Amino acid sequence: MIKPKVFVTRFIGQEAIDKISQDTTIEVWPEELPPPYEVLLEKSKDSEGLLTLLSDKIDANLINSAPKLKVVSNYAVGYDNIDITEATKHHIVIGNTPGVLTGTTADLAFALLMAAARRVVEADKYTRKGQWKTWGPQVLLGQDIHNATLGIIGLGRIGAEMAKRARGFNMRVLYHDKIKLNEVEEKQLGVEYVSELKELLSNADFISVHVPLVEQTYHLIGVNEFAMMKPTAVLINTSRGTVVDQKALYDTLKAKRIFAAGLDVTEIEPISPDDPLLTLDNVIITPHIASGSFTTRKNMAIMAAENLLTGLNGDIPPNCVNPDALRK
Ligand code: DGY
Repeated sequence: MIKPKVFVTRFIGQEAIDKISQDTTIEVWPEELPPPYEVLLEKSKDSEGLLTLLSDKIDANLINSAPKLKVVSNYAVGYDNIDITEATKHHIVIGNTPGVLTGTTADLAFALLMAAARRVVEADKYTRKGQWKTWGPQVLLGQDIHNATLGIIGLGRIGAEMAKRARGFNMRVLYHDKIKLNEVEEKQLGVEYVSELKELLSNADFISVHVPLVEQTYHLIGVNEFAMMKPTAVLINTSRGTVVDQKALYDTLKAKRIFAAGLDVTEIEPISPDDPLLTLDNVIITPHIASGSFTTRKNMAIMAAENLLTGLNGDIPPNCVNPDALRK
């Protein structure tokens, strides 16, 4: 029996590669950097399955040039790199990796929150530069986290985990989402609903963004939203870079109109080393590593492998974002 051909756009760990290899003719892109679009396009032409990363663009052009393609398994929970409508039209199922990265992502969001509030990165640089001359009453003062108010924008899985972490710091937690939890769920999680985003922005000491990137969330946080924040506010973004207008963020931080920001994502990834944002001390930027623990990345790989293999069999993957693709 001829095994289906699959292209895996990066090495995702031996266990998952072995699993996929058993049932397929597999090619793994060996480089650290993503395959250029032209390469991806070429490889897709005769592949039945693709295992992709968030940096691989699966657009209408690629989908239309891949007549054998049955499944795209994205090694990420987010799938804004894929044209889902076009894939569904072509009966291509799309898999993602929800659940396994929830806690790990919230851990990093909270780490950024703490590091930005207490200027941890700046303080480390200060020490290394030999600026630590004495204990000083005014040296590197930051914002208290305990007893402060956290505003969560998007109370999905990761947002809810963020709320749980905040409880340990006795924080008041506000949330804004399209969906309001019922009162029992709100009580269990210790969160309060605010129907208007502006209410959250003006009341929160910390604002953490956990929405997917869709048309409605593009530049959700821009000039007007920054203007509503407290001068002591700290913004955390571990979702997608374009949810925040980065130019507006730069202007706001530069003018010290909010206290700080902690970002794991930027509008263009990777951010250019010349980007003006990197000249500011009141922002911390990590290179999109929120799901990056050993355990979570392994679990994501296994989940992505399972989604891929199930899709190749003509079935709906266990974690599928467009099951309609297979409905007649
Ligand atoms: C995702 O899964 O969407 C993250 O951004 C990377 O883990």
